[in-house]
Amino acid sequence: TSPAIGIHDLAVATTSRVVDLDDLAARTGVDPAKFHVGLGQDQMSIPGPDEDIVTMGAAAAQRIIERHGVEGIRTLFFATETGIDQSRAAGVHVHELLGLPRTVRVVELKQACYSATAALQSAAGLIARNPDERVLVIASDVARYEVDTAAEPTQGAGAVAFLVTADPALAVLETAAGVHTAEVDDFWRPNDSMTAVVDGKLSISAYLDGIAGAWDDYASRGGAPIAEIDYFCHHQPFTKMAVKAHRALGQHVGVELDPELVLATTGYNRRIGNSYTASLYIALAALLEGDRDLAGARIGMFSYGSGSVSEFFSLVVQDGYRAVTRAAETEALLAGRDRVDIDAYRALHALGSRDSNVDVDIPGESAVPFHFAGISGRARRYTRS
Ligand code: CAA
Repeated sequence: TSPAIGIHDLAVATTSRVVDLDDLAARTGVDPAKFHVGLGQDQMSIPGPDEDIVTMGAAAAQRIIERHGVEGIRTLFFATETGIDQSRAAGVHVHELLGLPRTVRVVELKQACYSATAALQSAAGLIARNPDERVLVIASDVARYEVDTAAEPTQGAGAVAFLVTADPALAVLETAAGVHTAEVDDFWRPNDSMTAVVDGKLSISAYLDGIAGAWDDYASRGGAPIAEIDYFCHHQPFTKMAVKAHRALGQHVGVELDPELVLATTGYNRRIGNSYTASLYIALAALLEGDRDLAGARIGMFSYGSGSVSEFFSLVVQDGYRAVTRAAETEALLAGRDRVDIDAYRALHALGSRDSNVDVDIPGESAVPFHFAGISGRARRYTRS
């Protein structure tokens, strides 16, 4: 029989700066309740000039490597939809920054917010073949929309790193998984654009179609009955979306589901904003690092990537999982961000389109350990504090 495979450890990272959505509401003349209640968002992380998907991903992965070392790691999957290069995987920069062995293969996976789930499933496949291998998965994204649009308050930036292993300490990945793919023009980022193109209303309905389709496939493949799923993590482009998803799933299945349960997953994403590929796994971190005792609980996970690919799968939390959770670390990261005003944030937003030679000043003191140092010879350079 094959061993149980799943998530052995998981760490969150984000940027050094944060925008409070009360400030954005005041600047744009919007009722703050629209953001806090209507969208379920309070803040959004904003990258400084020296921060991007590599620096966040490296910061998250560093904490995994510090605890577990590199033994057994043969593969690094880097999931992102805000890639920094059309060819080279962002994970190659992380590999260098962390000094990982030459004997690690590195590849980038893309399908909007979904691809970290593809990484998790692919990792499980590799480990099923060789249970001594461990796979490092990084999901890292910067959500950027045009300023003065309805999507502006749903920006954000964050990363997770997780280690996929046999006999995991945190949560076992169950075998049944349900998938739903449908081409739809709800959200995408053309090659000539630094910001995503989005049809907000269509994106919400495509997401809800995705959860219904993925659930049906999950159920038909021997997934757990809905009454045997204790908690639900749904992808959180804004946290109210998880509540909508939960209601829609209940209606689809024909049972009343309690949206209160979903609120146990939203605490971090309310403060980070959308982190695309990382968002679902940051929701998982919020649940695992919260007050509830989850040992033995089954968590239903819904992953949605616009365009669109959806997947519903389930995890079972392991006894003793609390020994590896990182609540204090995550809280310190969130609390340690500098609050920037709207002028400063919009100046940073305007910087996002640099792609030719530039030097970036590295701050003497910084809340984050890795830095984007600039572009020379059209190649991106990175450094550590
Ligand atoms: N007090 C309380 N609530 C208020 C309010 C007030 N004063 N004013 C408005 N609201 C509520 C509205 O009633 C609405 O709630 P419901 O959805 O529950 O009806 C909510 O605030 C949003 O308001 P609008 O319906 O007017 O929507 P909007 O024009 O502000 O746009 C959005 C919202 C479509 C999410 C937009 O922010 C957007 O396009 N965001 C980017 C796309 C996105 O996140 N899509 C999600 C699905 S796609 C996906 O999941 C992939 C991904 O990561 C991007």
